[in-house]
Amino acid sequence: MSERFDFDRIIDRRGTGSAKWHKADVEDVIPLGVADMDFASPPAVLAALQARIDHGVFGYSYPTDELTETIQSRLKKNYAWEIEAEWIVWLPGLVAGLNAVCRAACGMGDQVLSAVPVYPPFLTAPKNMQRELNTAPLQLEGDRWTFDFEALEAAITSKTKLFLLCNPHNPVGRVFSRDELETLADLCLRHDLIVCADEIHCELILYADKEHVPMATLSPQVAAKTITLLSPSKTFNLAGIGVAFAIIPDDELRLKFKKAIAGIVPHVNALGYTACLAAYRDGNAWHRALLDYLRGNRDLVTNTINETPGLSTYPVEATYLAWIDCRAAGIENPGEFFLQAGVYMWDGVDFGGPGFIRLNFGLPRERLREGLSRIQEAMQDRS
Ligand SMILES: Cc1ncc(COP(=O)(O)O)c(C=O)c1O
Repeated sequence: MSERFDFDRIIDRRGTGSAKWHKADVEDVIPLGVADMDFASPPAVLAALQARIDHGVFGYSYPTDELTETIQSRLKKNYAWEIEAEWIVWLPGLVAGLNAVCRAACGMGDQVLSAVPVYPPFLTAPKNMQRELNTAPLQLEGDRWTFDFEALEAAITSKTKLFLLCNPHNPVGRVFSRDELETLADLCLRHDLIVCADEIHCELILYADKEHVPMATLSPQVAAKTITLLSPSKTFNLAGIGVAFAIIPDDELRLKFKKAIAGIVPHVNALGYTACLAAYRDGNAWHRALLDYLRGNRDLVTNTINETPGLSTYPVEATYLAWIDCRAAGIENPGEFFLQAGVYMWDGVDFGGPGFIRLNFGLPRERLREGLSRIQEAMQDRS
């Protein structure tokens, strides 16, 4: 299957205004930071975008019935999740959604809870919206990160109104099990918290025996308190196109969310809808091949990092992101240290995880090998 799509092809992204590659425009740096992949999007998506561009008229757009139905049938097929068309609220990106949820689900001065480490906008969104941030640490059980439910419960106060959940998890790569999610849901229901479930990585599951369970499918009670954020952008490498959506079953909560974005958050553009439909309708063979390729990269990263004295990492169940523990090496500022060695990764401090670094392995294997060699050499030079 993989040979039909060429994930080994090196595409030069320098000089394209890439947020991930901008440092490499001027320095010899291998960028393994920002979470997009160095692969071209599926051929079916490129063809659909090309056809839309050839049409030449880029007026205001709306999601067609075919797009809505494609999403509905995908969620039903993948998770037995049946959603109504009107539950979908389109967004140009998930980060806008995370910020809007803080306004929709909490009043001024209320608290937003999350478990750290976590994708940095989870930590900045509450403050952006003048809500208080409350965190509890994830805990490491063996080589598996999981919730510390006692710490979460202890962090909840009468002002806590919202829990921001990342599942699958960026940066620790966990696919939370049904049991873990049920315990979390029970906690949130008992404390009357809204849950915002960012499930952007749900189609990047790298183990055959792991399955994504959407939070909102646990029970009708949980669904009524859940805002799910989704996008084809991680799976099909469309982050720069700007297309995402929220699924909000509860009418009142959906109205609050729509009010929070009204007049501020722009509509999705014509190319976004086109790419989304093509990806979900026609990108499935490419998606399967991508997962195969990412599994190979994941294994290479896990083995190499765990063979490197001073560094360790954990099984990445989903995403193309590895969370690397540098604490045993005593490196004070891992981001700066590895940048000096010619590899740009995202320092854990921004995720609430100092002493860690996040490595993006969504790139051709040859270049990944080069990045890993630079990491190993930097570690050898220290010892
Ligand atoms: C968990 C998570 N949420 C949201 C985003 C970004 O979403 P968007 O680009 O749609 O704002 C990312 C990107 O890395 C992510 O990992």
